[in-house]
Amino acid sequence: MKQVDLLYTGKAKSVYRTDEPGIYIMKFRDDITAFDGEKKDTLSGKGRYNAEVSTFFFRYLEENGIRTHYIRSIEPGTIAVRGLEMIPLEVIVRNVAAGSIVRNYPFKEGEPLDPPVIVIDFKSDTHHDPMLNDDLIYALNLATPEELDQIKATALAINDILREYLDARGITLVDFKLEFGRYNGEILVGDEISMDSMRLWDKETGASLDKDVYRFNKGDVMETYAGVAKRILSPPGESV
Ligand code: C5P
Repeated sequence: MKQVDLLYTGKAKSVYRTDEPGIYIMKFRDDITAFDGEKKDTLSGKGRYNAEVSTFFFRYLEENGIRTHYIRSIEPGTIAVRGLEMIPLEVIVRNVAAGSIVRNYPFKEGEPLDPPVIVIDFKSDTHHDPMLNDDLIYALNLATPEELDQIKATALAINDILREYLDARGITLVDFKLEFGRYNGEILVGDEISMDSMRLWDKETGASLDKDVYRFNKGDVMETYAGVAKRILSPPGESV
């Protein structure tokens, strides 16, 4: 399979067409951004860690009956994916209050959310990703009621799978963001599942193990990403 031309470039990933119909190459770049793109940096090696963790989770989800866009890994930082018709929703599942819901609503940071709370934002740089509700999603023709039901059920199923997996490795899955797309009449998980799109806390110390380290200058981002990738990729209890 050969890479042909650049189809799309986002804040941290680029997608290329290939000479195989329906198959695309997704490159995880070393760029990192926060606060709607206001904070920006390039951290050598970051893309590789995010690709490694995303690949691991996509495979793990597939083993657990969740369909994703992942096909195979090509080289460090680069994966082959199915071409989805992306649905511009950022589907966030929250198990613990942190980040924007603490800023916007009277939740206390660290407060458990049981049952988990799903928040869906409109993926739109020009509109700055405002929060949606079901009526707005239908009025904007972003998804049908059947699609939205399936997206929410899949997001919660993924939450159960990832939460249990991470918990066994001493990590609390505070929240995470998913994106979905249409593929031959099915809804598949697209984009990435990585330290850039999850909020992870060490169960013992409460330390951030994700992009919050970058957002809020909490420490060495690359050291954190390397350490958490190792913990995620290892059997329970084997790495710290
Ligand atoms: O900022 P907020 O608290 O709403 O983020 C919730 C979760 O969704 C965090 O894990 C964050 O990293 C992720 N997220 C994302 N991409 C966005 C917005 C949030 O991956 N554009």
